[in-house]
Amino acid sequence: MNDHKALVLDEVRKYHQDTLIDEGFVPGVTEIWPTGAVHDVEDRVALVEAAMELRVAAGTKARKFESVFARKMKRRKALLTTSGSSANLLAVSALTSHRLQDMRLRPGDEVITVAAAFPTTVNPILQNGLVPVFVDVELGTYNPTVEKVAAAIGPKTKAIMIAHAVGNPFDVVDMAQLATEHELFLIEDNCDAVGSFYDGEPTGTFGDLATVSFYPAHHMTMGEGGCVLTSNLVLARIVESLRDWGRDCWCEPGESNTCMKRFSYQMGTLPEGYDHKYIYSHVGYNLKATELQAALGLSQLNKVDSFCATRRHNWSRLREGLDGVPHLILPVATPRSDPSWYGFVITVDPAAPFATGELVDFLENRKIGTRRLFGGNLLRHPGYIDVPHRVVGDLTNTDIIMTQTFHVGVYPGLTDEMIDYVVSSIKEFVEARG
Ligand SMILES: Cc1ncc(COP(=O)(O)O)c(C=O)c1O
Repeated sequence: MNDHKALVLDEVRKYHQDTLIDEGFVPGVTEIWPTGAVHDVEDRVALVEAAMELRVAAGTKARKFESVFARKMKRRKALLTTSGSSANLLAVSALTSHRLQDMRLRPGDEVITVAAAFPTTVNPILQNGLVPVFVDVELGTYNPTVEKVAAAIGPKTKAIMIAHAVGNPFDVVDMAQLATEHELFLIEDNCDAVGSFYDGEPTGTFGDLATVSFYPAHHMTMGEGGCVLTSNLVLARIVESLRDWGRDCWCEPGESNTCMKRFSYQMGTLPEGYDHKYIYSHVGYNLKATELQAALGLSQLNKVDSFCATRRHNWSRLREGLDGVPHLILPVATPRSDPSWYGFVITVDPAAPFATGELVDFLENRKIGTRRLFGGNLLRHPGYIDVPHRVVGDLTNTDIIMTQTFHVGVYPGLTDEMIDYVVSSIKEFVEARG
């Protein structure tokens, strides 16, 4: 490292110290955020160092992140993207590729999912001209049962795409088995569940494809970013092509002839020998992340296990503290799972002598941040009023979630003192309302 760079990075370390002003926790005054990123000095240094190199487009750091993350998540391939939403778009779009021949999804085919969801779990289904089929979820786990999904399978069903809700795995072993039996693809939206396990295996390893988000609210962050995971090399190539403008070529930027056949292909109705670097096998996008995101991601990866451990600790402290409080439906881990929680979800019993909004207002007034369970019931949002879809059974719990459910934070920036204040505040509110 040259002297100037070392000096700059030294100043960055000092600057980081300047930012660490601990004003202590003051109940009712200090914000208790529902989500947030936790950064240390190494993150700051990694980002500045990457910026100093002025190599912004994805390169060696991005490739390194992909290989380290794939190994960590026990998948053969991890493909870095601009966000979890673009990872979802790529995962669903990949299933429509001509490369899958008879297995490809075509417009009008159905994908089973849930409406108690984050919008961009469902949007790629619609964006690809496919039809979402909605089933209800359970209160407490906030996931659908395998039975509900099985009942929704019809002649046009080709895939299942569900998120592990707020980090709590759905019954992914039986869901994968169901998918296999009916020749359906399974996409696990793992955006909220990095570090979760089902039957001792990481979530994200059961489906044909899985997705991850690196937005600050999630288990580790790149600021913005996401990833598609798969061990199916055909799907990996399709995702890569769709991510990288639709190109057929897989050369890294700056490379030209990795396949040693750059001027020897004949594809489509192109003239023989047309430059492979400019052959497009898909109608693609550009959803590549940058080297700066990868630099931050690599630094965050060193901490993700401890972040997940703190999330579990915070969740358990809330769960134990609130156990037995009347009128609240508290979250439960799906049997056989070990969730790496995204948040702590509370549903106010519809028969409670207070409205959910009153409890939320009470907490917010005490600077305890709350968030809804994302869209509640997506079908009730203006953007979804007239989208093609099918509902199987009813969405009773989804509607209850829309009015009665919210979550508070478990992210690793929260301290025991903060968690205890959340617990005592909720108890105080409920006790006062009988
Ligand atoms: C389950 C789920 N899927 C997808 C996303 C989208 O991720 P991103 O914000 O990185 O686009 C989110 C975002 O919070 C999410 O919670």
